[in-house]
Amino acid sequence: MLIAITGTPGVGKSTVANLLSTKYKVIDINSYAKRNGLLEEFDVELGSYNVDTNKLNDSLKYKTKSREVVFLDGHLSHFVNCDIIIVLRCDPNTIYKRLKQRGYSLRKIQDNIQSEILDIILSESVSSGTITSEINCTNLTPPETARIIEKAIKNPSLFPPGSVDWSNEIDKWF
Ligand SMILES: Nc1ncnc2c1ncn2[C@@H]1O[C@H](COP(=O)(O)OP(=O)(O)O)[C@@H](O)[C@H]1O
Ligand SMILES: [Mg+2]
Repeated sequence: MLIAITGTPGVGKSTVANLLSTKYKVIDINSYAKRNGLLEEFDVELGSYNVDTNKLNDSLKYKTKSREVVFLDGHLSHFVNCDIIIVLRCDPNTIYKRLKQRGYSLRKIQDNIQSEILDIILSESVSSGTITSEINCTNLTPPETARIIEKAIKNPSLFPPGSVDWSNEIDKWF
């Protein structure tokens, strides 16, 4: 059973994935792609590598057949054919602070904030046709988020998409 943990950079995916890794297998998509030669050319504007999502998909296909719960951590993980997609959401102001601390360029921070406000990853996830849960973890501790993810994989309908709306943030940022 393959579960994608996705969301805009800075929402807290890797932090919660790290907690989940004490109980479950977790694959960090970025390092997995690097190790398996699935990185494409460097995108100078974005300041990151593109990933060949078709090859990524092929390479992880066998995992969905297993009963073992395997989490995928990464903002591209929802492009992998998986059983459930968990989209983590976070207030744009918090994302701003976190990405600034990470040393991202203003352009890259703005791109990510825009993507969060416009629900880009949520929309991509829902349109994949895979069962999708949405969790606003702005005011949750990482252990609380981990517990909610465990609930969501048992019953994804408890956390349906559409619960988060950052549209009142648009004027502030753009
Ligand atoms: N629930 C949380 N509460 C407070 N800070 C958090 C929480 N989750 C993550 N962080 C902090 O936010 C930053 C980004 O988290 P990270 O897990 O790397 O995000 P992502 O993997 O989604 O890019 C880190 O500095 C992390 O310590
Ligand atoms: Mg991460």
